[in-house]
Amino acid sequence: MSDKILYGYTGIFDTPDEIILAANKVAEDGYKKFDVNTPYPVHGMDNAMKLPVSKLGYAALIFGLTGTISAVTLMYFLSVFDYPIVIGGKPFFAFPAFVPIIFEVTVLAASIATVVTMIALFFKFPNISHPLHDTEYMKKVSSNKYGILLQADDLKFTEESAKELLAKLGAKDITAIYYDQAEISTEHKIFEPKFISLLIIIAVVVSGSTYFALNKLMFMVPFNWMMEQSKIIPQDNNSFFSDGKAMRTPIEGTVARGNMPYQFKGDPESAGKYLKNTLLPTEKNLDLGKKKYDIYCSPCHGYYGEGDSRLRGQFPNPPSLHSEKVRTWTDGRLYHVITEGQNIMPSYASQMTRKERWATILYLRVLQRSLNAKESDLE
Ligand code: HEC
Repeated sequence: MSDKILYGYTGIFDTPDEIILAANKVAEDGYKKFDVNTPYPVHGMDNAMKLPVSKLGYAALIFGLTGTISAVTLMYFLSVFDYPIVIGGKPFFAFPAFVPIIFEVTVLAASIATVVTMIALFFKFPNISHPLHDTEYMKKVSSNKYGILLQADDLKFTEESAKELLAKLGAKDITAIYYDQAEISTEHKIFEPKFISLLIIIAVVVSGSTYFALNKLMFMVPFNWMMEQSKIIPQDNNSFFSDGKAMRTPIEGTVARGNMPYQFKGDPESAGKYLKNTLLPTEKNLDLGKKKYDIYCSPCHGYYGEGDSRLRGQFPNPPSLHSEKVRTWTDGRLYHVITEGQNIMPSYASQMTRKERWATILYLRVLQRSLNAKESDLE
């Protein structure tokens, strides 16, 4: 026994009232390093043991505030500098929207830090042993008895006085508790290969089964989350219709929405008479017209409509667009040329939307006016 180091003396009590009384007496006797073990939290024990307020609150406060500050900083940086997006016309730093996140991060940081502090500082992780482990005392106080422990490193502690005090308080089973030699050694059981292998096995099993559940199990028939839906794609076969095709031809005479056919096919005179330009010569429309003219018309007609083709003889040069004839044509008549083409000039209906055609005509008028300005333009 001489090579063993004493950890303390334990005594057992039968009722919560006795243990409260005993704890109070021990504390009044001047003991600082003693502990009480009960099967469940006994109310009023803190007071009876005259415990000082726990310091854990400071850790919680510091880490909680750290969480608050990091959440605010990160959100401020993200939504004001890094990726500002206007959402519903609200300011970039819309504080009310950030309150839930600030709250969550604060609570998360505080709680995780508190647990880590407790485990690392108070329980001295990775040390996972304690002299009380596997003792008769522990078995009793974790089922239906109440125990008190006087630690040998208390200043007031002597073997005699401790035994005497426990006996005086009416404790039963007064026992000496010794450090286990293995427990004082610095080699912690937590680093044993057996334990590490167990951790690895658990990690593999947990991640493997999570992967299986989330990626395979959840997508087995009938739970395929509508990833495969029966549908008919264009050009597909379909036995439902007598012609065996999935696509249906539109009913004769129907017009697809927004696709009114050109009314003046092969009838330039009526086009010139009835079609009216729907656009006004605003800066925006003229810009659009210039853009489209330069792309689609200028290769043949030249940038200024003078018929100076850039195609270098690969295509017959067109006549000038500044001729008396073209200048007196109505917008509708010009529209007809762009839409249907004229002799060897091809149609530009499939390259240009209707709006673009009208805008190009507005720009063409500007070009014509630039060579044939009116007297009034000078005023
Ligand atoms: C591939 C070359 C080419 C392109 C591109 C082209 N045209 Fe023409 N354009 C011609 C030719 C060639 C004629 C003469 C056709 C004929 O003999 O009647 C012509 C005729 C015209 C006429 C009638 C001129 C007249 O005196 O009868 C107009 C108006 C006209 N083009 C406008 C345009 C506009 C607007 C564009 C752009 C959307 C355009 N063209 C694009 C080659 C082209």
